[in-house]
Amino acid sequence: MSTKVWKVAIIGCGSFAGGQYLHRVKQMRHAELVAVCDILPERAQDYARRAGIDRWFASIDELLDGCEFDILMNATSIPAHHAINLKALTAGKHLFTQKPAGLTVAEVTAQIEAAAKAGVKANSAPVHAMRHANRMARKMIADGVIGRVTTIRCQVAHGGPEYFQYRDVDPSWFYGTDAGALYDMGVHGLDYVTGLLGPARAVACIAAVSEPRRMVRSGAFDGSIIESDKLPDNYLISLDFGGGCIGDVYTGYCQRATRLPLLEIYGTCGTISFVKEPNEARPHLEVYTDHPEWGIRGWTRPQDLLEPQREFFDGMCLQDLIDAIEQDRQPVLSMERQRHLVEIMTTIPECIRTGRTLPLATTF
Ligand SMILES: NC(=O)c1ccc[n+]([C@@H]2O[C@H](COP(=O)([O-])OP(=O)(O)OC[C@H]3O[C@@H](n4cnc5c(N)ncnc54)[C@H](O)[C@@H]3O)[C@@H](O)[C@H]2O)c1
Repeated sequence: MSTKVWKVAIIGCGSFAGGQYLHRVKQMRHAELVAVCDILPERAQDYARRAGIDRWFASIDELLDGCEFDILMNATSIPAHHAINLKALTAGKHLFTQKPAGLTVAEVTAQIEAAAKAGVKANSAPVHAMRHANRMARKMIADGVIGRVTTIRCQVAHGGPEYFQYRDVDPSWFYGTDAGALYDMGVHGLDYVTGLLGPARAVACIAAVSEPRRMVRSGAFDGSIIESDKLPDNYLISLDFGGGCIGDVYTGYCQRATRLPLLEIYGTCGTISFVKEPNEARPHLEVYTDHPEWGIRGWTRPQDLLEPQREFFDGMCLQDLIDAIEQDRQPVLSMERQRHLVEIMTTIPECIRTGRTLPLATTF
């Protein structure tokens, strides 16, 4: 059993890392936060103060040159991910990266190859595959509880980053051509469905720019206008998983509220539904089984027979990485999974442009 304490640095001292990583690193087994970094030095300084550490840096180069650490957690804005990831991996650092790891399949492949060459591990958000409900649903599917799966339906959307979050950092970058609702939100829905059913074989999509102008609703940029017409903000994605199984993902920045379940899986003898009550932080599972041969049919809220999960939080991605390093195995949140998501997301614009269903080549 390793007793090494892994030294962690966070890059990207913005809204997300402040809530999900900064104070969570110390909750991970064998992890210690040693440095923080942001191109806005005052943000790095502020994070360092809040974490009670004295090492902060204003660029990835300064961090790599000036600090000894083992693991980089990259929570910068999307356009910065690939260059930072590649530098960290090439420098022999283990890496957790926010999604998407890169903007093309070639970029993620370059990161996978750099990690292999340096003998380090890498993993990537989203973290949904580690959630208890997802693990339970995967087990039920594998055990045949709902028969052969024919359909999966998922919706992951909100009203836009300017709409509902308190932000001190200008959110307009979310609407740039190298970011957008598909990469920011669609990736979650695609991660849910592929995490439950495995890689897809083909994709199709209808999308629209539904709200071309938006006003920031809170935070330091309250009242400022964002021209949000460069990329679609409203997507209906269809997927073919092969073997008679299809699915869809609704995503974007055009949903202020919903009463639909997050996700449903239909099988030949039942349904698994991810239901979220208004007062619940996370969805719970409800399962319909249809077994007339046993004389039973109906909905249950299944009891939890898997190892109970402590409180779930996004920073658990770090535990996945540390476990993978210590056990010398593939992380659950592997970069190959991430590459498949990036292939789907980079194929979608071509689907929209041509109106065609297009094949997918990557797998995991
Ligand atoms: N997994 C999730 O559920 C989830 C939720 C929200 C955001 N995110 C992701 O987290 C990341 C950050 O999102 P956010 O909402 O915190 O954004 P943000 O704009 O609040 O923070 C991004 C930070 O990165 C810094 N930065 C940008 N380029 C940099 C560079 N080259 N070097 C160092 N620092 C750099 C910015 O100065 C800023 O402080 C994004 O990739 C976003 O998609 C994930």
